[in-house]
Amino acid sequence: MKQITVAIAGLGGRGKDTYAKVQKKFPDEMKITAIADIVPEKVREVADEYGVPAERCFESAEQMLAQSQLADVMFICTMDRQHYGHAMAAMERGYDLLLEKPISPDLSECKKIAETANKLGRKVVVCHVLRYTPFFQTLKRRMDEGAIGDIVAIQAMEQVGYWHQAHSFVRGNWRNSEKTSPMILQKSCHDMDILSWLAASSCKSISSVGGLKEFRSEMAPEGAAERCVDCKYQWDCPYSAVKYYISKIRKGEIYWPVNIVLENATEESMMRKLQTSPYGRCVYHCDNNVVDHQMVQMTMENGIVINFVMSAFTVGGRDLRVLGTRGMIEGDMDRGIVRVRRFDGLGGTQDENIDVFALAEDFSGHGGGDHRLVRDLFEIVAGEKAPGSALTSIDKSIESHFMAMAAEQSRLEGGRLIDLAEFAAQY
Ligand SMILES: NC(=O)c1ccc[n+]([C@@H]2O[C@H](COP(=O)([O-])OP(=O)(O)OC[C@H]3O[C@@H](n4cnc5c(N)ncnc54)[C@H](O)[C@@H]3O)[C@@H](O)[C@H]2O)c1
Repeated sequence: MKQITVAIAGLGGRGKDTYAKVQKKFPDEMKITAIADIVPEKVREVADEYGVPAERCFESAEQMLAQSQLADVMFICTMDRQHYGHAMAAMERGYDLLLEKPISPDLSECKKIAETANKLGRKVVVCHVLRYTPFFQTLKRRMDEGAIGDIVAIQAMEQVGYWHQAHSFVRGNWRNSEKTSPMILQKSCHDMDILSWLAASSCKSISSVGGLKEFRSEMAPEGAAERCVDCKYQWDCPYSAVKYYISKIRKGEIYWPVNIVLENATEESMMRKLQTSPYGRCVYHCDNNVVDHQMVQMTMENGIVINFVMSAFTVGGRDLRVLGTRGMIEGDMDRGIVRVRRFDGLGGTQDENIDVFALAEDFSGHGGGDHRLVRDLFEIVAGEKAPGSALTSIDKSIESHFMAMAAEQSRLEGGRLIDLAEFAAQY
């Protein structure tokens, strides 16, 4: 395959720590030729690591986009509400795109990106990485092979993880839907996408309930301080920033999410940082508004019904049960287990236990999804695959955003059943 040149807009957890690293994995296929971030240290770090020349390092995506085209593909890894402006300008400049999710929290903008991509003939792959994981690939294959007969229902859970909720959705970047996007779009557009892909059908109607139970000032323990460094519960509270980040540092785990708070942290530097950083705030005294639990019910066009729960009050990971007329499949992504249980007619099941971890070597980055997605895009850009064949092309990915936003609308209206076609017609 020809080497694909890449410009990266936004050098954070995704741009720098995830996608830039794909060059190390596939050095013959990927070459970073331009980078941009508003934080100069991040630009310097990536420039040094990957040999990007100074004249191709920019102070912002806007500055990079003011130049003529500098690479085959631009990776849009800035924040949710910046994607639209950066993606539209990049497509006009001639770039194909790897576009982080959510495409945009504004559904009209999502549609405009898709229309522009189709009009200009740009290839746009949205980072719904789960479709590329060996876990979901295996599950889907066994469903499509008819291992459990006709699919009737799916019950799925996204275990956000109490620590991840505290880090990202109470203290961190995605705590407030006005600044980024509602939790069901931000975190669970992945789930909406994977569930409609597994069901092999579009969503017909959707309803949702949920809210913010725990991370509110009324729930603070008696005498809790505004910051964990000053709090008497700092080694007792399960959401304590001191307990979580300092314990991670003691174990030498200074990568994500610790490096989002502070790069190369030591115990001393982290304690200092937590005195002023948003990540040092008490979870009961933040400016968060996104939900910590939400349930979504979906009926698909082909009749399959789906129940999905997203909850902060978990440890982390995704699991699900697929129910068919001849059996059921139980899947646990973090444990790498797909268990196909065919009804044996004797009151029990005949089981096929698939160890997903034995099927591939590399499970780094979203269960092995991150670099497989990049590879798919490169094959399309190199002309080795048809443009529409991407598992997560913009046209395929956009539906999950409509589902998520319809679910949010339903939640805000107390669980009203929303017809997806009617909802989408507004945009
Ligand atoms: N696909 C997935 O599973 C997945 C996982 C996590 C995050 N995301 C998405 O990826 C995006 C980035 O998330 P992240 O975790 O990397 O966030 P981040 O905050 O770590 O990175 C964003 C980067 O953009 C930079 N930036 C801000 N304004 C800029 C500008 N004008 N020009 C250039 N750079 C600018 C910031 O300085 C920062 O380095 C988000 O939209 C998020 O929703 C996707």
